[in-house]
Amino acid sequence: MTSVTLSPNGDFLTFDAEGQSRRFHAIWLRDNAWDTETRAPGNGQRLIALRDIPAETKLVAAEIADGALRVSFAPEDKTVDFDLNWLAENAYDKPAPAELGWLGEAVTPWNSSLMSDVPVGDFQELAKGGEALRDWLGKVTRYGFGKVENGPTEDGSLFSVVDLFGYVRETNYGRHFEVRTEVNPTNLAFTGLGLQAHTDNPYRDPVPSIQVLYCLESSAAGGENMVVDGFAAALRLREENQDYFNVLAKYCARFEYAGDADTCLQSRRPMIELAPDGELIAVRFNNRSLAAVNDVPFDDMATYYAAYRRLGEIIDDEAMEVTFRLEPGESFVVDNTRVLHARKAYSGTGTRWLQGCYADKDGLRSKFAALSAK
Ligand code: FE2
Repeated sequence: MTSVTLSPNGDFLTFDAEGQSRRFHAIWLRDNAWDTETRAPGNGQRLIALRDIPAETKLVAAEIADGALRVSFAPEDKTVDFDLNWLAENAYDKPAPAELGWLGEAVTPWNSSLMSDVPVGDFQELAKGGEALRDWLGKVTRYGFGKVENGPTEDGSLFSVVDLFGYVRETNYGRHFEVRTEVNPTNLAFTGLGLQAHTDNPYRDPVPSIQVLYCLESSAAGGENMVVDGFAAALRLREENQDYFNVLAKYCARFEYAGDADTCLQSRRPMIELAPDGELIAVRFNNRSLAAVNDVPFDDMATYYAAYRRLGEIIDDEAMEVTFRLEPGESFVVDNTRVLHARKAYSGTGTRWLQGCYADKDGLRSKFAALSAK
């Protein structure tokens, strides 16, 4: 049973459908009208500004007609139909999020149990586009990383992975960077060390939101790649100690990279970043590029350091990590605003040649949304 009723002064209406009651304001409905005077028919861009809509806009009539919600506005004397599914999808009559660090439905935090279900795509299939690409992009969006197998093994093959969803983000390291390791027992300590899991380049603002790491040669044993879900780590920290979570979200850290005379990259951003409504939106964690943190008041600095230490311990916990080995022609894509990555130590001798580059996740999300809409 569907019904609609207007509030006494016409400021809002109440739409009842399938046992759900949702209110919509007059001004919100008017601003979101889809008629051809409000929105361009081709690209959906809004043709008017809010200043073109009277501030005193009221609802004067509303009914369900032809499977749509038909609404009349005054003083414009305008009648507009709203698609019922669109209204249901965009309903906002719900409680504000209660907890700091909430995640949207499209995101699933994970730990080492994801090891048996690493999101994988076959390059040849992904390159055709369509469903295979959509499904793989959906998993990358959900889990913050994905592996690609069966790709080419030429110099620069990593760009063909970026071409699947977006554009390379060039930096002062160039369009891509080389990760070549000669593993030799006499200097193993210098070349084959493992690294603590980190997000890349937190000293950039904005940070590159996608990293691609592509394997071209691999004859050394070990050197597996490892990923940790920074969202899962932050939520575990919150569960263990709300104050620790809060202090890392409340205050900005500082990150810096000044590797040569022409470079001095600096940023001031929190290790755990929340949207104004508490949504967990990014994690930055990189011991090598953390600068002196000087935005935490003296009284909170001890707690800040205890929280930073505990977050690092959680990240180092094997129960949080997923490891996989990249063979030539294999690569992985990681959401660098969420998922931390690292390389395990090498053993034995041989060579590893990987190439890496950055891209941005707006392109990846856009490709996924466009494929999903088809
Ligand atoms: Fe890295």
